[in-house]
Amino acid sequence: MTDTRNGAPRTAPIQSATFSNPVNAEIRRAAATGIYDIRGGGAKRKVPHFDDLLFLGASMSRYPLEGYREKCETSVTLGTRFAKTPIQLDIPVTIAGMSFGSLSAPAKEALGRGATLAGTSTTTGDGGMTKEERGHSNKLVYQYLPSRYGMNPDDLRRADAIEIVVGQGAKPGGGGMLLGQKISDRVAEMRNLPKGIDQRSACRHPDWTGPDDLEIKILELREITGWKVPIYVKVGGARPYFDTTLAVKAGADVVVLDGMQGGTAATQDVFIEHVGQPILACIGEAVRALQDLGLHREVQLVVSGGIRSGADVAKAMALGADAVSIGTAALIALGDNDPRWEADYNALGTTAGAYDDWHEGRDPAGITTQDPDLMKRFDPVEGGRRLNNYLRVMTLEAQTIARACGKNHLHNLEPEDLCALTMEAAAMAKIPLAGTDWYPGKPGTSY
Ligand SMILES: Cc1cc2nc3c(=O)[nH]c(=O)nc-3n(C[C@H](O)[C@H](O)[C@H](O)COP(=O)(O)O)c2cc1C
Repeated sequence: MTDTRNGAPRTAPIQSATFSNPVNAEIRRAAATGIYDIRGGGAKRKVPHFDDLLFLGASMSRYPLEGYREKCETSVTLGTRFAKTPIQLDIPVTIAGMSFGSLSAPAKEALGRGATLAGTSTTTGDGGMTKEERGHSNKLVYQYLPSRYGMNPDDLRRADAIEIVVGQGAKPGGGGMLLGQKISDRVAEMRNLPKGIDQRSACRHPDWTGPDDLEIKILELREITGWKVPIYVKVGGARPYFDTTLAVKAGADVVVLDGMQGGTAATQDVFIEHVGQPILACIGEAVRALQDLGLHREVQLVVSGGIRSGADVAKAMALGADAVSIGTAALIALGDNDPRWEADYNALGTTAGAYDDWHEGRDPAGITTQDPDLMKRFDPVEGGRRLNNYLRVMTLEAQTIARACGKNHLHNLEPEDLCALTMEAAAMAKIPLAGTDWYPGKPGTSY
């Protein structure tokens, strides 16, 4: 074939990197419908992440621990600053807040079962506390959200900790969404909403406008709960140094920091992909804030956003976190996006591993749905067993790495155990680039 302009041989057609096929398909979808895209899950674009860090391990200058004979502890206590009864966990991997409404009641029960078997906590979410989840969770954190859906003082007193949600990594500055398809009788009753009508919850809490009155709200919650339970403050990865400082000033016992890869049940795709910072860039800044306040380790830091394995857990802890929390990975462990439902995913126009229309309530795995028939596909006992197995594997993996770094507790992992594979990761995490003792912006260097 020849080029019509100059008669030279024609090159193969070239797709534009800017106007790629997926970009063009989204333009056509928007043009056809006039509706922005809503979905669940976290950012799908590749951003610097824990994969861009490696552990150095021990050799001559560091002494490893023997896996079969020497212990590597994993316990963590959250809420040591003010709470009379801090939360004691066997492992530093907690289950993140996921709403009843976005998830089915049996899925919430399974999260409680799995977390309890593994010796860790789970968290309620927008939409309140279900009896199934409370009943099967040894340690349950109760979320206090801008929407106030499902909020009642009796449930505050039934909780083992309270998490004030200021924001989420998937949508810092945004509120929740629950579409009408998922507002069943029970969800409507718990949220005090009409059945079947789309709901968008507030992005700002109506009870305070800033850290000064958040401090008053925290005191109120402490009085309601007799100063017993820890108060966490959860923020999305926006300005982690200042957000952590202000959360601590307002009186938080624990700061929960959720990076941009963090999952959501439903929000605009443009929000998920374009707002917030990767968790890798946030942890060091939050740790620096706690260190500047002299409160690192006294106010605990729990981080989340794309945590998948024991290696991710160990890396987050080496960067200074006290614990991590998981949402998406826990759902996958329960059976979300499992290839055994491939024919059903195909019928919905998608495939296992890519299904993210959680807002539609048609989840073939019966997890992100309120449809009674789909819910029957999910067994909460089996789900709990699978989640416990997964948490156990993550813990064993993190221990394996910590021992190889010569550490007898996961908390003893430190930035010094890490190197970065890319300049971006080195700059964001302030970890030396592999083979050097330097990272971009290192104090005392001019570049
Ligand atoms: C299905 C689903 C529902 C969620 N619901 C809530 C919620 O009600 N409140 C909240 O603070 N965060 C919510 N989140 C966010 C999680 O608490 C957590 O920040 C996030 O999932 C962590 O990132 P990961 O999914 O990559 O582990 C939800 C996440 C998912 C996947």
